[in-house]
Amino acid sequence: MSRLDSVLRRLQAQRDCLNLAIRLVRDLPGPVFELGLGNGRTYDHLRESYPDREIFVFERRVSAHVDCIPDAEHLFEGEIEETLDGALSRFAGTVALAHADLGSGHAVRDACTAAMISTKLT
Ligand SMILES: C[S@@+](CC[C@H](N)C(=O)[O-])C[C@H]1O[C@@H](n2cnc3c(N)ncnc32)[C@H](O)[C@@H]1O
Repeated sequence: MSRLDSVLRRLQAQRDCLNLAIRLVRDLPGPVFELGLGNGRTYDHLRESYPDREIFVFERRVSAHVDCIPDAEHLFEGEIEETLDGALSRFAGTVALAHADLGSGHAVRDACTAAMISTKLT
């Protein structure tokens, strides 16, 4: 499979999973967490899907598309290992959906990050 096909397949799968999650929690109240802003594509998809819901974004260093940067009240800037605990104590038990896209392409590092996030969010 070419790398072009591979990236298309990954992004289609990500959108399908995100759309399913969006449907599943549509009637649940509460904010959404976007873990890893990146270019802002999935953040833009979330806010288009949930125009009336608060979305809080976690990102170590913002370098997203200029139209996809949240305001300061909705941005936790810094290492997620340092920002997530504070946010969770503020929003404990209220978060309707957390979308994590923190992948770096380093398998071991990404597995550690996924384990850390899962532990904190459950
Ligand atoms: C793959 S990108 C996210 C892409 C995004 N979902 C989009 O659609 O544009 C991953 C992002 O997570 C951020 N990130 C990775 N590990 C992080 C950490 N430990 N703390 C904060 N941000 C992190 C990176 O800086 C990067 O911007």
